Amino acid sequence: MFSRRIGSLRPSPIREILSVLDRPDMVSFAGGLPAPEMLPPLSLSAAPTSLQYGPSEGDPELRAVVSEQLRILGLDAPTERVMILSGSQQGIDLVAKLFVDPGTPVAVESPTYLAALQVFRLYGADFTSLNWNNAPMAPLAYVVPTFANPTGRCATDDERDSLARACQDGGVTLFEDDPYRELAYGPCDRKPVAARMHGGSWVYQGSFSKTFAPGLRLGFLAASEDLFPSLVILKQAVDLHSSTLSQQLVRSAITDPSWSNRLDELASFYRKRRDGFDAALHRHLDGLAEWETPAGGLFFWLRLTRPVDTRALLAAAIDRGVAFMPGEEFFPDRPQLGTMRLNFSHADADATERGLRTLAQLLRDGTEKHEGVSNT
Ligand SMILES: Cc1ncc(COP(=O)(O)O)c(C=O)c1O
Repeated sequence: MFSRRIGSLRPSPIREILSVLDRPDMVSFAGGLPAPEMLPPLSLSAAPTSLQYGPSEGDPELRAVVSEQLRILGLDAPTERVMILSGSQQGIDLVAKLFVDPGTPVAVESPTYLAALQVFRLYGADFTSLNWNNAPMAPLAYVVPTFANPTGRCATDDERDSLARACQDGGVTLFEDDPYRELAYGPCDRKPVAARMHGGSWVYQGSFSKTFAPGLRLGFLAASEDLFPSLVILKQAVDLHSSTLSQQLVRSAITDPSWSNRLDELASFYRKRRDGFDAALHRHLDGLAEWETPAGGLFFWLRLTRPVDTRALLAAAIDRGVAFMPGEEFFPDRPQLGTMRLNFSHADADATERGLRTLAQLLRDGTEKHEGVSNT
């Protein structure tokens, strides 16, 4: 009854977890959610055109503003090659549709963004591992170089140069996913990999979810000349165009003179949250886990000192009112046991304290019980 690809359809564990987060007592370290207090105030005075159909590529003025921002980053992204997306998640779907048949190799980091793995899997991708210093062994390489999801890692200048060269020389299409670049709390060279390529095929995408409001579902992509026209046709077939109303709201926010202040405030608010979370991690999980303090983004990546399967731990944690993302889900193939991703942007200081205390307790009490859970 269904298409063959539906055989590889699996529910997103993130969405399943998010469905229990409405419980009033729940502390959530699970999703990459902005802090509620940092969501913008909503004032709706929509022009009639924002309720009308619009172009598939997006609102021309918004595309021009994004193009200018990307030009400053060093990308060859004129307005004609910028497209507004219904969330950057849509860009992953479009690129996967363009490149991936059953069995197509796709090079990815391990671990990497699990909803990208989910999309690539749906189209039948055969994952190969992406090593920053070697040429990707695939026609398409997907990377999150800046404050990666889930690890928070920022690729070095040398790694970025080397991947750009490898893609260009090896005829590999670079797909760079960059939704966290504005959330920087410390030094990190963030010049996009795509901006280091001179020729070759690439797609670069970003999002307004983390800097503005995820509920508006808006992101953007820019692509090299050989790819852009096909991506537009694919988008036409998916949703005709992204919400005109959301585009109006984002355009007026990012062209407002206060936008750069907002970005600064966001970074300083999240820097404080990160530091508070780091201190609470030390209070509760020292000896139980190891981690690096991320220089940006929204996540801590924990490696537990004992390799319990954190998927099994999650059910017990949810019963005790704490949600997190099991790290195993972020691996393209054989999962590494004993890893978890903790979001630090959403919970306030009290909830963080409570949630980490509970997690530490569970890890102390339950390690024996959960140890050795199979790896399948
Ligand atoms: C690496 C990465 N790419 C893409 C997305 C999708 O973001 P959105 O569709 O909200 O723009 C996310 C969301 O968390 C992400 O972490």
